Amino acid sequence: MALRVGIVGVTGYVGEELVRILCHHPEVSEITAASKDFAGTALDRVYPHLRGHAEIEIMGMEDLGELIGRSDVVFLALPHRVSAPVAQQVIEKGKKVIDLAADFRLPEQKVYEEWYQVEHGAPALLKEAVYGLPELFREEIKGKRLVANPGCYPTSALLALAPLLKKRLVDRSSVIIDSKSGVSGAGRSLKLGSLFAECNENMKAYGLGTHRHTPEITHYAGVLAGEAVDIIFTPHLMPVSRGIISTVYAKLSSNLDSCSLRQIYQDFYADEEFVHVALEGEMPETKWVVGTNRCFLGAVVNREMAVVVSVIDNLVKGAAGQAVQNMNLLFELPENTGLQQLGLYP
Ligand SMILES: NC(=O)c1ccc[n+]([C@@H]2O[C@H](COP(=O)([O-])OP(=O)(O)OC[C@H]3O[C@@H](n4cnc5c(N)ncnc54)[C@H](OP(=O)(O)O)[C@@H]3O)[C@@H](O)[C@H]2O)c1
Repeated sequence: MALRVGIVGVTGYVGEELVRILCHHPEVSEITAASKDFAGTALDRVYPHLRGHAEIEIMGMEDLGELIGRSDVVFLALPHRVSAPVAQQVIEKGKKVIDLAADFRLPEQKVYEEWYQVEHGAPALLKEAVYGLPELFREEIKGKRLVANPGCYPTSALLALAPLLKKRLVDRSSVIIDSKSGVSGAGRSLKLGSLFAECNENMKAYGLGTHRHTPEITHYAGVLAGEAVDIIFTPHLMPVSRGIISTVYAKLSSNLDSCSLRQIYQDFYADEEFVHVALEGEMPETKWVVGTNRCFLGAVVNREMAVVVSVIDNLVKGAAGQAVQNMNLLFELPENTGLQQLGLYP
């Protein structure tokens, strides 16, 4: 297959990561890319480490018609609200779209508009969007033309929660998710809170009860459980560039020990190439996954609570890697194509 891909928002962290993966994808023949402020610039002038791997001249947003025309699938690595109208354009031209922003993750327009405080840019498309978390919704993704790539925190939390909820092992009103992310989670644009002197040797909680990933986690946890799930989600910023560690707590509704819980996780993810369960005596660390499309989970029982630790790279399994996994599914390629070789962190 000679797939032609387009990337809109290529100069951001997620866009760059998409290029890093797709330029060595064996089924991708051409990458076309655009951004807002760097039109006419060579991508390797923005990201010199891509020189010799991806020779791409960045197009402007006014060239989107041409970019879409030259693509079989378009990845949108844009801010929320900017993304939806571009998705509409791609769909109208009969091409497939994988949106890495939040515009199609929540099925209800009203919920999106409440949490994101903007009007939805293409509400008519919401009904055909599919939530692109392959390990949990693989069959639903196949054959679709609009994939909503999950948020980074939701990916880490939902992979940890899925066995507990699908197997009805926990009290659905007792779920607490404590997550920590590296600074690249906030994107590349200039923000006071992302400055070195603000983040370095510092940790802080933020968005308590108000973080926009809360309704996404709550909704898909409910889908997995088959009924509503109450969740408390608290994100933190940690002073590393990449990586998310989420610790999920939930009250067990039956008597289980750590060994049985770990076995449940091992069985649940036995056929998944990108989800691994830590062995007895191990607990996952972000260094195990940085740069890769993998998620490591560690599960123990502590005083009748299931405690599950989940680590991912926010830019790979939490964004670009998962998006490529979704592209592989849409085009009936082996799901690991272009993702297996992603380097392990030293
Ligand atoms: N960072 C993560 O860990 C992560 C994980 C999962 C999902 N996401 C989501 O993925 C999307 C991209 O995230 P990011 O971290 O890569 O953000 P980013 O580093 O801030 O990059 C944003 C990109 O969008 C372009 N852009 C910004 N405003 C635009 C506008 N009004 N019109 C057209 N283009 C515009 C920028 O172009 P210029 O550079 O030319 O301005 C840049 O290429 C976001 O929706 C984010 O929530 C991020």
